[in-house]
Amino acid sequence: MTDEQLFGVVGAGQMGRGIAQVAAQAGFRVVLLDTKVELAEKGRARIDSGLARLVGKGKIDEAARVATMARIASAGDFAALAGADFLVEAATENLEVKLEIFRQADVAMKKPGAVLASNTSSISLTKIAAVTARPEQVIGMHFMNPVPRMQLVELVRALQTSDATFEATRAAAERMGKVLVVSKDAPGFLVNRMLIPFLNEACFTLQEGLGTAEDIDTAGRLGLNHPMGPFELADLIGLDTVLFIAEVLHREFGDDKYRPPSILRNYVAAGWLGRKSGRGFYRYDERGRRLEGAAA
Ligand SMILES: NC(=O)c1ccc[n+]([C@@H]2O[C@H](COP(=O)([O-])OP(=O)(O)OC[C@H]3O[C@@H](n4cnc5c(N)ncnc54)[C@H](O)[C@@H]3O)[C@@H](O)[C@H]2O)c1
Repeated sequence: MTDEQLFGVVGAGQMGRGIAQVAAQAGFRVVLLDTKVELAEKGRARIDSGLARLVGKGKIDEAARVATMARIASAGDFAALAGADFLVEAATENLEVKLEIFRQADVAMKKPGAVLASNTSSISLTKIAAVTARPEQVIGMHFMNPVPRMQLVELVRALQTSDATFEATRAAAERMGKVLVVSKDAPGFLVNRMLIPFLNEACFTLQEGLGTAEDIDTAGRLGLNHPMGPFELADLIGLDTVLFIAEVLHREFGDDKYRPPSILRNYVAAGWLGRKSGRGFYRYDERGRRLEGAAA
């Protein structure tokens, strides 16, 4: 990819915003797309306020903020992807949503050799690739949250992914400063195959009353040397996303060890989705900062 090439990001949620920011900081031109242009614009504005905070802390200079934002456009229509060389889909973790996006992107994207990647946490890339007319150009590009701070990208090869697609994706991820691991296409790949049973089990210990959320998190941080406890991490990921992933693992493997705990289902049903909704296992202010001593 060169500077002139266009990077499309579908979904202006927490992951899409992070991917758009890092791609623009790496010098790509970016178009950020959501179901409505207003949502994409809101996402773009949130990237800008995040960069402004970094300027305030002296981590980047004002010229870098302006240059990064000048490379990001927002859109509400797939037609904006016509000239894209690269697409990363980062919409809701739902098979039907993703299949429809890939059908539409396949029609909209006109450049030969363009890569169509998904940031899915668990869904089969082979299934996603199969709804396009160019399955060899589809791949999984799984970023971690928060994208600007987390080094890892997990590349997932669909059965149909070509070597050229794999190499182009590897080059783009490396240009974005990421460290890569490669997984075959199986539910949850490497990262979420390990993470989801851990988060589920933390929920079971909480719903069985073994300990408080704070104590279970402290056990994770100080006993397992994890940087965040399981509930802090689940609240960051989004409890709806954790539940979607657990449901994919449970359904696809048909193994009850992946069953989502009822506390997780209930929190999602209540709209307690974690940081992004202001309440999950803990409570948060409007900027996503945790409120002291306020576990749900
Ligand atoms: N949250 C995490 O920690 C994390 C980490 C790695 C990967 N992921 C994956 O990234 C993806 C997005 O997760 P998120 O946490 O950013 O979710 P989110 O809920 O913050 O954002 C999802 C966005 O997708 C948009 N969207 C939904 N349907 C759409 C459509 N048809 N077209 C365009 N946009 C659409 C929504 O409006 C929303 O802005 C999921 O596949 C998730 O599994 C999430």
